[in-house]
Amino acid sequence: MTMYELIQAKRHGEAHSDDEIAYLVRGITDGSIPDYQISAWLMAVCLRGMDAHETAALTAHMAASGDSIDLSIFGTSTVDKHSTGGVGDKTTLIVAPLVASLGCKVAKMSGRGLGHTGGTVDKLESISGFETALSPDAFFHQVEQIGIAVVGQTGNLAPADKKLYALRDVTATIDSIPLIASSIMSKKLAAGAHAIVLDVKIGSGAFMKTREEGEALARAMVEIGRSCGRKMRALVTNMDLPLGYAIGNALEVAEAIEILRGEGSPALREICLALAANMVAISRDISTEEATAQVTEALDSGRALAKFAEWIAAQGGDASCAEEPARLGQAPFLRTICAPCEGYLTAMDAERIGRAAMLLGAGRATKEDIIDPLAGIRLCATVGDKLCAGDALAVLHTSDETKFAAAEAAFLSAMTFDAQPPKTLPLIFSVIE
Ligand code: URA
Repeated sequence: MTMYELIQAKRHGEAHSDDEIAYLVRGITDGSIPDYQISAWLMAVCLRGMDAHETAALTAHMAASGDSIDLSIFGTSTVDKHSTGGVGDKTTLIVAPLVASLGCKVAKMSGRGLGHTGGTVDKLESISGFETALSPDAFFHQVEQIGIAVVGQTGNLAPADKKLYALRDVTATIDSIPLIASSIMSKKLAAGAHAIVLDVKIGSGAFMKTREEGEALARAMVEIGRSCGRKMRALVTNMDLPLGYAIGNALEVAEAIEILRGEGSPALREICLALAANMVAISRDISTEEATAQVTEALDSGRALAKFAEWIAAQGGDASCAEEPARLGQAPFLRTICAPCEGYLTAMDAERIGRAAMLLGAGRATKEDIIDPLAGIRLCATVGDKLCAGDALAVLHTSDETKFAAAEAAFLSAMTFDAQPPKTLPLIFSVIE
C-alpha cells in the first residue's frame, strides 16, 4: 500500500478499507507521509467524499492517535456537549453545572478561541484565580467529589487531527462534512464521555451556512458516535445572530451567571435548557419532556447556580462572582454605539460582531495573541427590535481606547435596518437522534 495509491483511489471515488485508513492516520501522526501527499488526499476527499464507514474509521483512528481519557470509573454517568462554534456561545458555563446539579458527571476538556469565536477556557480564565490546568488525579478527584471539572485540552489529544486541520486550513479543504465530522468527533471520543450532545450551529456566524448542511453534519456526527458505542444526539441551532447579549470573556461569564439566576436573555435560556434536557435524557434514558422538567427545576430553584459556585471554588476561582458578578471586573473604557437611523433591526451578522469583539481585544487573530479578559460587546438591542435614531445598540468594552474606531466600524457593518420587521427564524431548527 502506498500513499500514491490511496490518493489515486480516492480521486476515482473509491472507498478506503479500514486498513488503508489505519495506514494513513499512522503516517500522518508519525510524519512519514509528506504534507503534499496528505494535502492531495484531502482535496480528493473534499471532491469525492467519504462514506459513513470510512468516516467512522477515520474518526476512530484519529481518536486513538494520541492521549485519550478513560472515564469508565464513572460508569455511564458521564456527559459532554460540544458546540461547532458560535459568537457569544457561553452555553457550557450554564449547561455543565446545570446537568451536574442533577447528578450527571461532567469531566470536560474545552478549547481556547481562535478568530471570531471565543473558547470556554478563555472565558473561565477571566474569573480571578480559576485554574484550567489540573493534574489527572485532581481532575478525576474533582469529578468524583462534585460532579464537574472543566480543563484545557491536552496538547496530545488526537494529534492526527491537529496535523490534518492545519493542512486543511491552508489548502481550502475545511468545509467537507466527513472531514469536519471526523475532526470534531475524534476529539470528543478521545475525551471519553459516554453520552454526547452536539450543538450544530448554522447561519452567518457558523461553519455551516444552511439548515441542510447543518443537518447533514449533525447526522454524520451522531452516526459516528453511535458506531463507537456512545449515546448521541444533536441540536441544529441558529447562529445568524450572537447568542445572548454578551460577547467577550468576562462579559459572557457575567451573562451565564444571569441565566443561572433566572434572569437574562430568553433565547440563551431556551438553548441552555434544550441542551441540558437532551444531555440528561440520553444519559438517563428518560424522555426529553421529563428531563426538561428536571433541568427547569434545577435552574429555577438555584441548584444549578449553587453547583456553578462550587465548581468555580473547586478550581481555585473567586466563587463570590456567582452572587456578585461585578467582581468579574469591568474594562476601563466603554463606548455606547447608537442606531444611525430609525427602523427595525432586521439582522445582526454574528461573524462581523465576533470580529468587532476581537478588535476590542476579546479574541485572538493568532494563537500567540494575548486576550483582554474584560474586552467585548454588550448588546442593548436584538433582531426584531424597533429603534429610533440614537437609541443604544451596544456598549463596547476595552482596556485600550485606540481600538474603538475599528471595532465600532466593524460592529456597525454587522447591523441591517429596514422599515419592515424581519421574519423570525426558530432558535432550534431540529433535533437529530
Ligand atoms: N472544529 C473542529 O474541531 N474541526 C473542524 O473541522 C471544524 C470545526
